[in-house]
Amino acid sequence: MKPVKPYPHPSGVTAPAIPAKFIPQHVAVVMDGNGRWANERGLPRNEGHRAGEAALLDVVAGAIEMGIPYVSAYAFSTENWRRSPDEVAFLMRFSSEVLERQLETLKSWGVRIRWAGRRPKLWKSVINLLERCEEETRGNTLCTLTMCVNYGGRAEIADAAALIAEDVAAGKLKPKQVTEKLFQKYLDEPDLPDVDLFLRTSGEQRFSNFLLWQSAYAEMVFMNVLWPDVDRTVLWEAVEQYARRDRRYGGAVDKVAQP
Ligand code: FPP
Repeated sequence: MKPVKPYPHPSGVTAPAIPAKFIPQHVAVVMDGNGRWANERGLPRNEGHRAGEAALLDVVAGAIEMGIPYVSAYAFSTENWRRSPDEVAFLMRFSSEVLERQLETLKSWGVRIRWAGRRPKLWKSVINLLERCEEETRGNTLCTLTMCVNYGGRAEIADAAALIAEDVAAGKLKPKQVTEKLFQKYLDEPDLPDVDLFLRTSGEQRFSNFLLWQSAYAEMVFMNVLWPDVDRTVLWEAVEQYARRDRRYGGAVDKVAQP
């Protein structure tokens, strides 16, 4: 089925024209600032999460309009279990509700939904819904939205190392065969390309354990806007910044200043 175009931005603004070679293939998004957004308005933190749903959808719309094929969103980290039991329970229920509410729209836009994260502790209802979304959007190719739920970069790397150790112990693999390329195959989402643009909102400037392996050469862009106030124009502004960066991957060329 031909994908439906996402709804336009309410102001009518369209994606800036950026040459295809400067469009990131994979954008990792840390949706930060929900709690502060709510508290600043005299509301409980959970209201900030509620308001963040529309921001996520709009960013996916913006990614499609710009031709970004991979977006990964940090929805719940392996450290988020430390939040109050009330907030954890809210986030579990809310994640299922968001997926349930948005599945048909995302499906119609040609989005493939994937889940990256650990099973233990995660509510069965959330796992079931994430798996249903994966199943129902399997055939979509326009944009892959990886929902990172109960995800931690170190956990992903440690889990891969444990699997490799098992294969070495079983004689299926020799330690010498463990290269970066092979290591990647043992990650939770081995097909996920490297992150080009790592976007964090709310002014915080941290990785917070998100896609550590995949972000080795990512360009970091920090936007001083709280997640519920984000829309696709924030993503586009981040991509414009990204497009101006000089990516060298450790290489260097002499550019001696002329007298
Ligand atoms: C960070 O803000 C945000 C989160 C931990 C959750 C964000 C999740 C969504 C918007 C949607 C989830 C959807 C699915 C489908 C899983 P924060 O609470 O850390 O804000 P703060 O830094 O201001 O406290």
